[in-house]
Amino acid sequence: MRKNLILAIYFLLCAFLTVQIIYKKGVAMEIKSNNVNKKAILVVAFGTTYPSGQKALKDVQSMLKNEFSDIPIYWAYTSKIIRHILAKRGIHILSPEMALAKLMNNGYKKVYILSLHVIPGEEYHLLYSNAKLFSLMKNGIKEIKVSKPLVSTYEDLEKVANAVLKNIHLKEKEALIFMGHGTEHPANAIYIALNSILNKKNPRVFLATVEGHPTIFDIIPKLKKQGIKTVYLMPFMLVAGDHANNDMAGDQPDSWKSILTKEGFICKPIIKGLGENPEIVKIYIDHLKEIIKK
Ligand code: CO
Repeated sequence: MRKNLILAIYFLLCAFLTVQIIYKKGVAMEIKSNNVNKKAILVVAFGTTYPSGQKALKDVQSMLKNEFSDIPIYWAYTSKIIRHILAKRGIHILSPEMALAKLMNNGYKKVYILSLHVIPGEEYHLLYSNAKLFSLMKNGIKEIKVSKPLVSTYEDLEKVANAVLKNIHLKEKEALIFMGHGTEHPANAIYIALNSILNKKNPRVFLATVEGHPTIFDIIPKLKKQGIKTVYLMPFMLVAGDHANNDMAGDQPDSWKSILTKEGFICKPIIKGLGENPEIVKIYIDHLKEIIKK
């Protein structure tokens, strides 16, 4: 009987201590979440539904995790269509605005947005303006900074060109054309600059765009002039998604592969996004470090 009483007291004591520990831990977590410096990284990409595109995003995530182990990393996609397709597959990814609202609600005070855009075009500026609005709200996120897109300065142009050319070894009569996205936005000039710098570094490497300038038809005469026989095609986009699989390497008559094949070239598409190149991801990470440091 006495033994039972001692046991009961022992268990009560254990339970009491456990509750105390949980309570204290809870309080500690509460204090932490009210921290005025609670930081987060929000990675913003266009998004992709292609498994070949997912590879690049996963590579970016793992490099980021290695670099910023002490700051939680969240993702948002700007494309509504992609978010809806993924939602039907049970993958729920927020828009940048919804993600910022959630971060604000969860008490984050400093949010660093990593823009995975290639150039500072329309989408980047939209993200920038909307993000800044969240820092204007009372009791909201105190500090929101958006990193520069991949190619924003002349220095970036040089670095990016070197990064994409690093593992390119062309044989005689072989050329490589990168497929940039292109836009009507004035920032399209960056693609023209990229073509010129790549071509200066390697006269058999070119860049054309799907929706802007230069076009593939600007490059074809240059290939012919150099007597090129084989043309490699590679996306100059973060992910190898829809444009890479269809407009670049697809079988439809207006794909680059079809156009070039019709012109007599042997065409070899490489389905690999910029995000799969660690040198490129390093440039994005450097842009992120710039805004975290300031
Ligand atoms: Co597009």
